[in-house]
Amino acid sequence: MNQNAAPADAGLLVARATEMIKAGRFGAARPIVAALQRLIPGTADAALLAAKIAIQDGRPADARRLLDDAIDAAPENTELRKARAEVLTELGQLPEAAMDAAEAVICDHTDPAAKALLGYALLRLGQAEQAVLCFKDALGGAPKNPAVYPGLAAAEEACSRPEAASLALAAGIAAVPGDVGLRNAAILLQAKQRNFASALSLAEAARRDGVVDACLFCLYAHSLSSLGRHDEAAWAYAEALKLGPEDEYVRHMVAASGVRPNSPRAPAGYVRAVFDGYADRFEAHLISLGYRVPGLIRAGVIDHMPSLVQQHESCSARIGPVLDLGCGTGLVAVACSDLRIGPLVGIDLSARMLACAGNKQLYAELHEADVMDALQSDTREYRLVLAADVLCYFGALEDVLARVYARLAPGGLFLFTVEQLESSAAGWMLRAQGRYAHAQAYVNVASVEAGFQIRELRAESLRQEAGAPVPGWFVVLERPGPEGAK
Ligand SMILES: C[S@@+](CC[C@H](N)C(=O)[O-])C[C@H]1O[C@@H](n2cnc3c(N)ncnc32)[C@H](O)[C@@H]1O
Repeated sequence: MNQNAAPADAGLLVARATEMIKAGRFGAARPIVAALQRLIPGTADAALLAAKIAIQDGRPADARRLLDDAIDAAPENTELRKARAEVLTELGQLPEAAMDAAEAVICDHTDPAAKALLGYALLRLGQAEQAVLCFKDALGGAPKNPAVYPGLAAAEEACSRPEAASLALAAGIAAVPGDVGLRNAAILLQAKQRNFASALSLAEAARRDGVVDACLFCLYAHSLSSLGRHDEAAWAYAEALKLGPEDEYVRHMVAASGVRPNSPRAPAGYVRAVFDGYADRFEAHLISLGYRVPGLIRAGVIDHMPSLVQQHESCSARIGPVLDLGCGTGLVAVACSDLRIGPLVGIDLSARMLACAGNKQLYAELHEADVMDALQSDTREYRLVLAADVLCYFGALEDVLARVYARLAPGGLFLFTVEQLESSAAGWMLRAQGRYAHAQAYVNVASVEAGFQIRELRAESLRQEAGAPVPGWFVVLERPGPEGAK
């Protein structure tokens, strides 16, 4: 790269770097973008490209800084506003993201991508009716953009209009028949409503139209098995595995179907895919299911640590630090926010769940990590570790119990929930929904073998599903030691 190249050459370089980034060739684009930052510093083109690289490298805060400077210099540049809206969304700063998306629409009211971005921002802010209007407007200008239809469908769903959501996806499929994402979204929507016959006919139509995809086969298999057609489902799961042998989502769903032997835990890639895609709806959905686990954890902390849990401001004693494994969007922190516990350290695999937790400003630290890795790399001692509705993504509990034990101070407590497995013949079982259930005897033995004393192991309803309570175990373990935790 000739650093003395005249700025006239910059246009060519911008076009090349843009193409490379579009094609996912970030390594090749990197030196060109670095050169552009020297050649045309502070310009919108250089900032946009450098921000894309920063996002790819997992440095959203750097991307934001680059875009802030560029927007200061060119506040009406639509591309910069759209890019910053995406970065702010990634950082969980949703109102600011919506402001940038709205500015982009104001700067160029013919830009469908800006309108779609505004739609997604409003949807995440819970303003679903306005989001519907934005998506419809965006589709008016770009009816063949497959990324807009799922947004419209999600917004219609959030407005409790499942029919309209199905129609939106059907319109998307008619406009872009080869788009796998739209096909899968349409099938998933029917499966979520337990319309397995419709899900199956959509999957069959996709196959007839020549759409070949591992996820599609998984959904096809799930519909078949839900309709009792188990042999065909087994075949379809095997096909899914052939198409996506390394895809952790596919592998886990195939394992959950019973076609492959149970793996001892849900793979990180599966958990990330599920919860990154679920983060926006997580809290509203769980509230609608009467989710009880954060409340059970709060009551457990009060019952088992009465002298440390002072609700009175004048008392300075705190339990902290407290580890919240699989903290998700931070519901446990909300439930315990008036208790004198903390500072809270949250661990989760899903960046999007963590962004929601970050918005609550209740955690001193949030780490994007697997709980197994975090428990190993963190060398601090905790008096309280919590895992609300997280160990249902682990089958075998021995390793995780051993790692929690190692992190606990003598007398420290571990509070968690798991889903109930009625038959005690097997210690744990992966169920078709992709979550594990555990037998009481197994939880008992695994806890004692890890060195814990069992303070409590009792049956509790965790939430409602299909109109019935989901039974679970609420567990309080103590690492024995000279000091009690009272
Ligand atoms: C059902 S949510 C519960 C979230 C939160 N504890 C609550 O009660 O609201 C499960 C969370 O555990 C996280 N999770 C599951 N397995 C994990 C693992 N191995 N490491 C880190 N996080 C995990 C998921 O990403 C998700 O956010």
